[in-house]
Amino acid sequence: MDLLVVGSGFFGLTVAERAAAAGRKVTVIERRPHIGGNAYSEWEAETGIEVHRYGAHLFHTSNATVWAYVNRFTSFTPYVHRVFTTHRGVVYPLPINLGTINQFFRAAFSPAQARDLVRRQASEFDPKNARNLEERAIGLIGRPLYEAFIRDYTAKQWQTDPRDLPAEVISRLPVRFTYDTRYFNDVWEGLPVDGYTAWLERLADHPNIEVRLATDFFDESHPFSKGATVGRLPIVYTGPVDRYFGYQAGALSWRTLDFEQEVVEVDDFQGTPVMNYADAEIPFTRIHEFKHFHPERSASYPPDRTVIMREYSRFATGDDEPYYPVNTPEDRARLLAYRDLASNEKDVRFGGRLGTYQYLDMHMAIGAALSMWNNQLA
Ligand code: FDA
Repeated sequence: MDLLVVGSGFFGLTVAERAAAAGRKVTVIERRPHIGGNAYSEWEAETGIEVHRYGAHLFHTSNATVWAYVNRFTSFTPYVHRVFTTHRGVVYPLPINLGTINQFFRAAFSPAQARDLVRRQASEFDPKNARNLEERAIGLIGRPLYEAFIRDYTAKQWQTDPRDLPAEVISRLPVRFTYDTRYFNDVWEGLPVDGYTAWLERLADHPNIEVRLATDFFDESHPFSKGATVGRLPIVYTGPVDRYFGYQAGALSWRTLDFEQEVVEVDDFQGTPVMNYADAEIPFTRIHEFKHFHPERSASYPPDRTVIMREYSRFATGDDEPYYPVNTPEDRARLLAYRDLASNEKDVRFGGRLGTYQYLDMHMAIGAALSMWNNQLA
């Protein structure tokens, strides 16, 4: 074995694939019983509908190198992501755009008129001097739009009143003064034609790559454990950085999600893949309906059933899956301490979302893995 990769998410598998293609023998160990990290998907048993087990994953990028690379392992459907939100029993398009504004204010503003209105409403606070998230959000989009579409949704995401959240949680709030409802601004976008897991399996499908599932790096009973490998061969570690160092500088804080999946006996539950719920009375943040991610599969998906998933957000504790870094000032201080420790760790490189304590979209994780291979490992 020339390289040990800990974690089989997009970061780990991309490094493994590049190393294998360059003739190195790679072992990938994965704590979970399946590959793919959070991008993993499976076919729901009763309906055969592809479900993203760890939350909806939409691929998008403007990075030409990443786009060329990913297309070697999968082709993409022409899916374009759009999101709606329900507020006080009415459905609006997101991100906030001219359609949302005109519907909300029951008006027919031109782009200039809408811009002028939002500018006036936002003048209540200067976002640069905001003392909390609420003041910054109002300073960016004005109080009426903030209270309708941002306040309660943010409170649900963080289990915290936005007046008690630091202003830095948001740097900008996208508002479009056109009727463009595309969610992402990237050049390329789509979903893997035969699913995420098929794509991830092709990344790992190389005679030089061995994948060992249900194998935890910190379980010292096997030959790929931390104790048996560190200092003996190059390692790319994509698990949580604080766990690697035994939490010696303190635990980093994360938000996690709870998913409630249900097969509903109707052809179409909500008419769209993702419906947000903006109001405090609804405890979940959104509902995903997986059928709508793949309209091209309509002939093979059942006409009388659909799979929906309600998403709830909360702070992670104990064994919860870490999803989004909370990034408090204490977290940032701890992260600096861990970066110091990591830089002294012989022949171990820390990568990916957990290894660097950063939210990374898939294209960012893949791009960062390609850079690590090219600049540090090749
Ligand atoms: P990832 O977490 O995928 O993989 C790390 C792997 O390491 C895991 O499989 C874990 O089990 C394993 N591991 C950890 N500790 C270990 C140990 N001790 N021993 C062995 N293995 C260990 N991106 C995007 O582009 N579009 C989207 O729509 C979304 N949506 C989205 C929703 C949600 C809810 C989340 C949390 C994330 C997204 N993402 C996304 C981001 C996407 O999931 C992310 O880019 C990739 O997961 C990053 O891949 P990594 O390999 O860095 O981490």
